[in-house]
Amino acid sequence: MPDPRTPLISGNWKMNLDHFEALRTLQKLAWLVPKDVLSKVDVSLHPPFTDLRTLQTSIEVDRMEFLLGAQHCHHETKGAFTGEVSPVFLAKLDVKLVICGHSERRELFGETDEMVNAKVKAIFAHGMTPIMCVGETLAEREAGETEAKVLGQVVAGLQGLKKEQVAAMVIAYEPIWAIGTGKNATAQDAQSVCASIRAAVAASFGAEAGASVRIQYGGSVKAGTVAELMAQPDVDGALVGGASLDPDEFAQIIAIAAEH
Ligand code: 13P
Repeated sequence: MPDPRTPLISGNWKMNLDHFEALRTLQKLAWLVPKDVLSKVDVSLHPPFTDLRTLQTSIEVDRMEFLLGAQHCHHETKGAFTGEVSPVFLAKLDVKLVICGHSERRELFGETDEMVNAKVKAIFAHGMTPIMCVGETLAEREAGETEAKVLGQVVAGLQGLKKEQVAAMVIAYEPIWAIGTGKNATAQDAQSVCASIRAAVAASFGAEAGASVRIQYGGSVKAGTVAELMAQPDVDGALVGGASLDPDEFAQIIAIAAEH
């Protein structure tokens, strides 16, 4: 059966690059990534909120094929939530994909599975696609609890969704011990966890949703490691932090992913 899933490479810029720096990075990336590559791989860029309008304008005016993304949003549409950003505001900026449940949000800002589930629903409600992150700590991995932790987060985060929604979304498996550490799961480990996620999705939402949901791996992905990851049947892309800040390296990652 041909693989129905277009690879998705996402650059999570985290709290890096002001709007001038972000614009320069975008322009350099546009110059480095040929259009025919972007017909084979989807690429989303997730800058800080303050850069979104600048990137939106540049993507539109220069007809770039990058998808604009955000790193987070609140689940309510408006109200007394000082410092938060509504999914409505993101949709107005042509944001297409929103990361939610990143381990940094869960660990540093206390986001629970229930909050992540509410965000996934809010992102869909406003016409965008969630990239829902899941992953285990080093202690959980060493205790043999990787699958229990990851699949628990998957089931909780997808609670109450329609199967068509699950089919259209993205799940990012990011082992916490691999984020920003230079360590990464072996391609075989990544494949094994991603296959379990797909099986769990199929068990709850049907074979079609299992076959369609895109599953990314994240955690110290570099140009030198992405080929082996992308060769795995259940790895459909990568959520890239540090290496996405360097346009040369990120362009190489995109080009390699386009070959899979
Ligand atoms: P690094 O690629 O810097 O390890 O970050 C991964 C990540 O957290 C992407 O969301």
